[in-house]
Amino acid sequence: MRRAFRTKSIEQIHRDCENQPHKLKRTLSLFDLTALGIGAIIGTGIFVLVGTAAVGDGDRPGAGPALALSFVLSGAACLLAALCYAEFASMIPAAGSAYTYTYATLGELFAWITGWSLVLEYGIACVAVAIGWSGYFVSILERTGIHLPPALINAPHEGGFINLPAVLIVLALTVLLVIGIKESARVTGVIVVLKIAVVLFFIAVGAFAVEPANWSPFMPNGFAGVGAAAAVIFFAYIGFDAVSTTAEEAINPQRDVPIGILVSLIICTILYIAVALVLTGIVPYSQIHVKAPVAEALNSAGIRWGGALVAIGAVAGITSVLIVMLLGQIRVFYAMSRDGLLWPWLSAVHPRYGTPHHATLITGVGVAILAGFVPIGVAAELTNIGTLFAFTLVCGAVLVLRKTRPDLKRPFRAPFVPLLPILGMAACLGLIGFLPPITWVGFLVWAAVGLILYALYGFRHSKLGKQAPVANQAGS
Ligand code: ALA
Repeated sequence: MRRAFRTKSIEQIHRDCENQPHKLKRTLSLFDLTALGIGAIIGTGIFVLVGTAAVGDGDRPGAGPALALSFVLSGAACLLAALCYAEFASMIPAAGSAYTYTYATLGELFAWITGWSLVLEYGIACVAVAIGWSGYFVSILERTGIHLPPALINAPHEGGFINLPAVLIVLALTVLLVIGIKESARVTGVIVVLKIAVVLFFIAVGAFAVEPANWSPFMPNGFAGVGAAAAVIFFAYIGFDAVSTTAEEAINPQRDVPIGILVSLIICTILYIAVALVLTGIVPYSQIHVKAPVAEALNSAGIRWGGALVAIGAVAGITSVLIVMLLGQIRVFYAMSRDGLLWPWLSAVHPRYGTPHHATLITGVGVAILAGFVPIGVAAELTNIGTLFAFTLVCGAVLVLRKTRPDLKRPFRAPFVPLLPILGMAACLGLIGFLPPITWVGFLVWAAVGLILYALYGFRHSKLGKQAPVANQAGS
């Protein structure tokens, strides 16, 4: 059993990267990394989920105009975690992100649990994002008078057969990712500029339509509403850590990855708070549209052309989220397979394109199938709990590594350790507390399946276990 807590030394991680027979290409600049971060962050969360977060959903109270406060809370939790991520990313610039960090600190079992949670964070997030994309795409088609058959644009729980646009967008992007990361980053860069422009446009134009009376009462459901909304719109922040999953492809990872993570998160936090204030200022909160809230808010203010523009920007923006989230999932599979915790063919790199094409195809097909049939809310909440759990472990891992390896060179050091990681863990666990119990159950089932898989495969095939089964105990 002690073998399950073997750790992988930072030196070993560096050697593994350097000695890779199929090394990933180092092509990404600071601009590319920041664009990838923003590309992953601004998407379904701010364009779609923001509606239910303000209004409420079933038993869950909405935040009302205090939605901006929910964004402050979630953003603060993310900032604490981001500082911890930045310390690791500067120290361990290897593919795999939180998974690799916990492998180096808390041991293989925790690494496995983290990697398995990251499959929720990236893989299942892609499902929610693709469904959000489909909603806006269909609304644009309808604005132009094209009406697709309901059976092909709705999942079974909505009375349809399959959400076909969600399936097709995932498959199309999968092909793009097999062809190569530089191309994908370039496409992402263009879309990111467009997406920020659309968000700024909404804030600027919407600000003139704000009726301050709509902001009162500010907290119609008290702190319970603010907290519940924070746990939902946490989804809107997910993605800044995707920058760290591409560290092995960064030209100057030690400097650029921490900067890329922090800059992309800070830009998005400011934009979100502004969007939340404008949105709840334009429309009385109980009337906010829940499927396309941002575009519909402009419509209801009589700015129809603005609504159309925002809808187009949302489709483009959500597309770039999908690209980065798919990329993140693929890199996690790649790293786990390279360590022998998943099957070796998953880390095979295409001889011509230089991309992990098997991991890409498995991810793409899996996400496409789920996106066709699963409800968006379930996918988003599972994503949030998996991500919050991984963030908690990363904060804990910073504490552990400061104790066990104080000697390591840390080009970026998180400030106020141990206070900052402890607050980070408390904030993430607090947000988990605001998620519905059914989501906790879903996560526990997911974790149990993961542990069985680890016992049956990863534990036996781990490369670390084969190299030095006893010498690599935690803390040694
Ligand atoms: N943060 C990403 C989004 O909102 C996952 O779509």
